[in-house]
Amino acid sequence: MKGIILAGGSGTRLHPITRAVSKQLLPIYDKPMIYYPLSTLMLTGLREILLITTPHDQDAFRRLLGDGSQLGLQISYVVQEEPNGLAQALILGEEFLAGDRCALILGDNLFHGPGLGTYLRRNTEVKGALIFAYQVSDPSAYGVVEFDGQGKVLSIEEKPITPRSNYAIPGIYFYDERASRMAHELTPSGRGELEISALNNAYLRAGELNVEVLSRATTWLDTGTHESLYEAGGLIRTLQHRSGLRIGDVEQIARDQGWV
Ligand code: G1P
Repeated sequence: MKGIILAGGSGTRLHPITRAVSKQLLPIYDKPMIYYPLSTLMLTGLREILLITTPHDQDAFRRLLGDGSQLGLQISYVVQEEPNGLAQALILGEEFLAGDRCALILGDNLFHGPGLGTYLRRNTEVKGALIFAYQVSDPSAYGVVEFDGQGKVLSIEEKPITPRSNYAIPGIYFYDERASRMAHELTPSGRGELEISALNNAYLRAGELNVEVLSRATTWLDTGTHESLYEAGGLIRTLQHRSGLRIGDVEQIARDQGWV
């Protein structure tokens, strides 16, 4: 399995900050945002990583992460010319994937929790698609999954005005080797984007979508608004001060994994 981090987008909800700086390079307390999703992929055991950025931000990411060798990784780069949707990452990553399975993570999603890496690592042999569900009070800004009483998935909806459940779909997705091909077959949504929910719905229709509910011991934050960015920084600061342990520290993870 290979990893893809999507760090494109114009970050309009964070203007004017993101007019000059990529959202995914903004600080979450003491590290750039991108460190957190990168650390999640590293804890999943993935070392071949593709970083997708806007054309003008790629140089800044290269200055920060280079080719990844200092972390025992192989990081390659590709540009997303326009913010045409998350599922486009699978098309832009087709050559990099070269028929392998992948974990796609969004550059503004932060995961933290006991045993999360071990849990994710157990799923790297995915068949079909594996996505996650996480209970939130207001899921309307997210992809939303609806289950029946037996836990069978009934629907996946992108940013529904009236959500059918409180289960949001966090920005980490595991796909088998068909993902790029299936992404090519998608048609753009009303807002003109290749939606990740459309790809997940394609797997659902094929009877190949697995959804696992993430433990409430796991923290999931997305950091695309001023409020959520501020909250995430405060949370990392509190957790690190309390325990003395560092969160999202890619150098430390590389050492712990024995990669450097
Ligand atoms: C995207 C996805 C959505 C997902 C969310 C997770 O939304 O479209 O399905 O729940 O990421 O962060 P965005 O935040 O790009 O609007």
